[in-house]
Amino acid sequence: MPTDHAYQQCIHPDCGATFSVDEVHVACPQCGSLLDVRYNWDRLVTPKWDMFEYRWMTKGEHGKGALDFSGVWRFRELMPFYHKYEDVVTIGEGRTNLQDARKLARHIGHTPGKFHLQYEGLNPTGSFKDNGMTAAFTHANMVGADKVACASTGNTSASLAMFADMAGFKGVVFIGSGKIAYGKLSQALDYGALTLQVQGDFDACLRRVKQIAVEIPQLGIYLMNSVNPFRLEGQKAIMFRVLEARGWNVPDWIIVPGGNLGNCSAFGKAFMELKELGLIDRVPRLAVIQATGANPLYTLFEKRGLRWNGGRWDKDMRNALYAEYDDQGIRAHTIASAIEIGRPVNLSKALRALDYMDGVVREVDDETILEHKAMVGRYGFGCEPASAASVAGAHMLIDEGIINKDDDVVCILTGHQLKDPDATVKYHTGIDMKAIQEQAPHTEPHGKLSNTPVPVADDLTAIVEALGGDPSLVTAALR
Ligand code: F0G
Repeated sequence: MPTDHAYQQCIHPDCGATFSVDEVHVACPQCGSLLDVRYNWDRLVTPKWDMFEYRWMTKGEHGKGALDFSGVWRFRELMPFYHKYEDVVTIGEGRTNLQDARKLARHIGHTPGKFHLQYEGLNPTGSFKDNGMTAAFTHANMVGADKVACASTGNTSASLAMFADMAGFKGVVFIGSGKIAYGKLSQALDYGALTLQVQGDFDACLRRVKQIAVEIPQLGIYLMNSVNPFRLEGQKAIMFRVLEARGWNVPDWIIVPGGNLGNCSAFGKAFMELKELGLIDRVPRLAVIQATGANPLYTLFEKRGLRWNGGRWDKDMRNALYAEYDDQGIRAHTIASAIEIGRPVNLSKALRALDYMDGVVREVDDETILEHKAMVGRYGFGCEPASAASVAGAHMLIDEGIINKDDDVVCILTGHQLKDPDATVKYHTGIDMKAIQEQAPHTEPHGKLSNTPVPVADDLTAIVEALGGDPSLVTAALR
């Protein structure tokens, strides 16, 4: 058992290697599995619910006040991996709320008062990602990093770009060409991140940014994707806020869209730890909802029976599915571009969360997603397409009778409606703004601070050059 109050640990039961929180890893250096951040709770202040009450009323201007103001750090005793308060990078993220969506409940055949929406679109960059980014930047700060990067379907890049700008890091984002909604692209550009538009999809971008961060350490890039276990620590706070809003009463269901599967993994870990600490006595069920065109977890879990199996899950089954994708030229494709992901990096942690929370996985098609997005717009706060997958999935589970009429249901609305105005305008008017924009004549950017995306081939040498690195760093072995 490590002696520090916090440490990193490989999640594979046959490995379980531990590392200091001062080290930077994106996978276990010994066996390649994902890492968790873990705590020796008995050496820490024992968290109690009443410690968190009313901290959020502070103005949050100075010192600890900024931590109390944050909807993540006011739960800091449940994620105490930092050394000192000054390590924390925060901008008042996570001040989101749980909405009683009575009209929407009625519309989808559920009991009014029993159906809630956790509106993460209220975050500073308009998505739940800010919960994780504050934690990952805190760790980057602890280890003295100054250059951070991620691959993204849009929201992670917007969040990274804002925190990097605010905290004085150099931000680099890898996005697939033509793959992200304009609202999100505009954020990365405005916050000044170096935006590499890679000729490929999200899966290609993630593979490249991981290569850059891990295999070319000379570039000094700290990886911010959700393979970074510190990011998921921050995302646990979404569940803490749901519980807080419910007077610390556990709901029956948590329903969340699944893309790279970081969020559902963080939720599973949150409940495991709350139970271990005796702060809750039961655990909600989890439903992860994917788009039909990007459904690897649904296929593996529901169709092929893949299970966590105490951590010894069947990797061959996953590899066989990915080989089928390659053989048949299948690429993830959905209107819900945020979850257009074919090879989710957190698959193993998602299986663990499904196991712990007696979970189910469902897929919903694009038309159903858009109809539910419109319902959320009419009867809720509005959201982007991927977020509406959670409501569409809830509707499906209610119709199937898996969710009972008197179950307490919480759907996570992961991103703001303004993230993807094109999808909304097209749904309501039939006008395809994206097609119009693509045909419009391009003029040179002319602002003094113009920050245009850099198109780059899906090729390591080209990417290193675009980062200003020496192309000779790309050895034959890496190619
Ligand atoms: N909803 C939205 C709005 C998202 O942006 C994402 C992920 C998800 C749901 C899925 O969450 O990956 O934790 O399963 N967006 C990432 C990005 C991949 O790059 O912004 P997940």
